[in-house]
Amino acid sequence: MTRAIDALYVRYQVTDLAVMERFLRDFGMVPASVAGDGQRLYMRGTGDAPFLYEAVLGETSRFLGAGFSVGSAQDLERLSALPGSGPVQQLDATPGGGMRVRMRMPDGFEIDAVYGAKPAAPLATRDAIAFNTARAKPRVNTAVRIIRQASPVKRLGHFVLHVSDHAASVAWLRERFGLLASDHLATPDAPTHPIGTFLRVDHGDALVDHHCMLVLGTDRPGVHHCSFEVEDVDAVMSAHDFLLERGYMLDCGVGRHLLGSQIFDYWRDPFGFRIEHYTDGDVVNADHEPSIFAGTADQTTQWGAKPPQDFFE
Ligand SMILES: [Fe+2]
Repeated sequence: MTRAIDALYVRYQVTDLAVMERFLRDFGMVPASVAGDGQRLYMRGTGDAPFLYEAVLGETSRFLGAGFSVGSAQDLERLSALPGSGPVQQLDATPGGGMRVRMRMPDGFEIDAVYGAKPAAPLATRDAIAFNTARAKPRVNTAVRIIRQASPVKRLGHFVLHVSDHAASVAWLRERFGLLASDHLATPDAPTHPIGTFLRVDHGDALVDHHCMLVLGTDRPGVHHCSFEVEDVDAVMSAHDFLLERGYMLDCGVGRHLLGSQIFDYWRDPFGFRIEHYTDGDVVNADHEPSIFAGTADQTTQWGAKPPQDFFE
């Protein structure tokens, strides 16, 4: 079985790349080493991923897919031989280059496996602002000074898909990328029957994010959101005010999730897609025991903004 190293990027088709670039810059990304050619836009964060977001020009706006890094060229060969997979392709005009196999998940999402991409040189950022709690005061003789501004995003944290067959999609991701269940979602009237699964990459005893994906069974397949990590709470909040000032549409935030525990802030991009800033998510390893959460939608937020009804549709 191939084990994914991490989720690398998401891909969308949109009707105006200039509008998308302006939004993504305000959201905290910058053009990647290969910025695109008028038909494609590649944007990066401050981490070492060559790009986090690809926007492709098209006549309609839609989610295309996502990419995961894998550990060897043999992984690509093996994945390429599976049903629904394309050939191993050499990437010349993509930031970081390397090789890729593009596969079709159930419901048609294009999921890439990438190997051999050259890591980007990380971009300089401010240090995390130390947080003085009631018990411990690590910030000494230093004031907090932050302005309302775009907060650089570091990396893609996760993305969420609505799928027509939850079990089949989880099995597909398990087989192709070795993704493990961190927690499951069920409904109060069928508490032992999972309809959603938070999935993480399998690094054994090493710590990884609680989830790089959530797969949720519904009768309307599509993307729910993608989510990018920022440095700290001040980054979430200063970006929140900045994006409001810029006139963007707030979807839901700020609040703290239940599963994964992230402090979240959801926005709508100019094409209506939901996109999230987050910080302070859970990290887990092989000691983590999956649970089934069978509460109400409201209970998935611990404090802060309650998601609107269409968040759960
Ligand atoms: Fe999220």
